[in-house]
Amino acid sequence: MSEAEVEQTPEEKALSGLPDDTPVDLESVFRDSQIQDILDKLDRELVGLKPIKTRIREIAALLLVDRVRNSLGLMSGPPSLHMCFTGNPGTGKTTVAMRMAEILHRLGYIRKCNLAAVTRDDLVGQYIGHTAPKTKEVLKRAMGGVLFIDEAYYLYRSENERDYGQESIEILLQVMENQREDLVVILAGYKDRMETFFQGNPGMSSRIAHHLDFPNYTAEELIAIAKLMLEKQQYRFSPEAEKVFYQYLLKRMQMPNFANARSVRNALDRARLRQANRLFAQHKDTLTKKDLVTIEAEDILPSRVFRDGQPDSNQTTDRE
Ligand SMILES: Nc1ncnc2c1ncn2[C@@H]1O[C@H](COP(=O)(O)OP(=O)(O)OP(=O)(O)O)[C@@H](O)[C@H]1O
Ligand SMILES: [Mg+2]
Repeated sequence: MSEAEVEQTPEEKALSGLPDDTPVDLESVFRDSQIQDILDKLDRELVGLKPIKTRIREIAALLLVDRVRNSLGLMSGPPSLHMCFTGNPGTGKTTVAMRMAEILHRLGYIRKCNLAAVTRDDLVGQYIGHTAPKTKEVLKRAMGGVLFIDEAYYLYRSENERDYGQESIEILLQVMENQREDLVVILAGYKDRMETFFQGNPGMSSRIAHHLDFPNYTAEELIAIAKLMLEKQQYRFSPEAEKVFYQYLLKRMQMPNFANARSVRNALDRARLRQANRLFAQHKDTLTKKDLVTIEAEDILPSRVFRDGQPDSNQTTDRE
C-alpha cells in the first residue's frame, strides 16, 4: 500500500488539507476582532491589576490563535475557558468578570454578552428536591454567556455530606464538561477558602483552566481609583482633600473589614454626603460650579477613622 492510500483520521486530513506554508494573517484577525478596544478600555478604566491584565491578554491571544487555526481546518476542540478569580473583597473580581464576558463574546466564544452573577442561595434549595430545579433554572438563564458564582465554596460543606450544595455541584460539573462550548463558568472568592473547596472537589478543580489571583491594592492605587471614581461622577478632590484622603486610606487599610476599592467607593459616598451638607450649612450667597464639584478636606476629616481610629464595632460590612 502506498503512503497516499493509508486511512487518515479527520485530524490528519485537516492538517494535510492546506500546505504547511499557507500564510496566516494573525494581525488582521486581531484588528477585525476589535479586541484591542476592550483591552485598552480595561487599561484605562481599571487601575493597577497588572498580573490580571497580562493574563487576560494571554487568554485573548490563545483564543485568537485558536480561531485562526480553526479557519485553516486545524482542529483542537473548544478550549476550556472555565476560570477561578481569587482575591480579597473589592479587588475587582466582579468588574473583571464582566469585562471577560465582553472579550469572550467579541471573540465568538459565547453567544450573549451576559454575566449571570449568582451565589449559593440562587443554586441550592432548602428542601429535598428543590436544588436540581433551582440550579437548572440558573443554568438555563446563563447559557450562552458567563455564569459567575460568587463565594463558590459555600456550595460545599465538608462537614455535611448530605448538604444539598453537593447536588448543585454535580449538575454544574456535568454542564461544565458537556456544554463548555456554550457556557463559561467563573468561580470567585477568597483564595484560601477556594483552595480548600478545590481539595474537597477535585472534579471542579480539574475543570478550571485559568486561575487568576487578584492582589490587594496599594494606597497609591487606591488614591488613583478614588480619583477615577470621582472623575466619573464629575467631582474632584481639592489638593488638601487628596492629602487627607491618602491619610484616611493608610489608616483604613489597617482596620477590620477593609474592602479595597469597595471601601474607597463607600468613603467617597460619605464624603459627597458631607459636602452636600456643608454647602447647605454654609448659607453662601454665591455658590459656584466649583463648589459643587469640589470635595474638601473637611468632607473627609470628620470620618470615624480619624476620630476613633477604628470603624464601627458592630458593623459587618464596610461602614465607618
Ligand atoms: N482596579 C480598579 N480600578 C478602578 N475601579 C475599581 C478597580 N477595582 C475595583 N474597582 C471598583 O471597585 C468596586 C468593587 O469592585 P468589584 O465589585 O469588582 O470587586 P470584587 O472583587 O468583586 O468584590 P467582592 O469580593 O466584594 O464581591 C466597583 O465599583 C469597581 O468598579
Ligand atoms: Mg464581587
